[in-house]
Amino acid sequence: MAIVAPSFLSANFLNLEADCKMINESEADWFHLDVMDGRFVPNITFGPMIIEFIRKTTTKVCDVHLMIVEPEKYVEDFKKAGADMLTVHEECCVHLHRNIQQIKSLGMQAGVALNPHTPVESLKEVLDDIDMVLIMSVNPGFGGQKFIPNTLNKIRTLRHMINERGLSTKIEIDGGITLENAHAIVKAGADVLVAGNTVFKSKDPKDTIAQLKKITR
Ligand code: DX5
Ligand code: ZN
Repeated sequence: MAIVAPSFLSANFLNLEADCKMINESEADWFHLDVMDGRFVPNITFGPMIIEFIRKTTTKVCDVHLMIVEPEKYVEDFKKAGADMLTVHEECCVHLHRNIQQIKSLGMQAGVALNPHTPVESLKEVLDDIDMVLIMSVNPGFGGQKFIPNTLNKIRTLRHMINERGLSTKIEIDGGITLENAHAIVKAGADVLVAGNTVFKSKDPKDTIAQLKKITR
């Protein structure tokens, strides 16, 4: 069964507490929190302050996806805010190996995210050092976009690389996941499904989460 991580990008920020409660009561496994800086991506969201508030509402894993340049400047702040898993973009990190070590030295799990154009092979030399690879299945910046079909090939290639080395590195897929494509994504080798619009814009978000769990069994 896949790990399901609803993305708060699509939550109601005027009543975040209610959405946190809903996710807590649901079968969702993780909270997926999207941090955007208006530089790496053409959108701005929230930072450590909001995450600190959200953290207080839950014991579930806080999976923080940084879409920011120079992430090393803020790694400590996100640790203090309560991140369990911190993911940086390969495209933002000139010294990716150092970034990974920094995240791990603070006791967080380290993830690396890849834009649609970045090959999974670019992580060949650091795959053994990381806990998760996040494959973007849309261009980062906004919720509600369409799943890029080539992502399935990337998942299969990465799954092969991970299995070949006997690693337990997780594969997380983010963007455009629906009740229709979730099964194929997990079948290709994904472990974690992020879902924003599919969950929060549905009539019954809790039931949608339950369905995502069921589909990927
Ligand atoms: C986009 C974010 C995603 C976003 C996914 O850059 O990283 O987490 O919330 O939203 P949906 O599931 O609506 O495509
Ligand atoms: Zn995300």
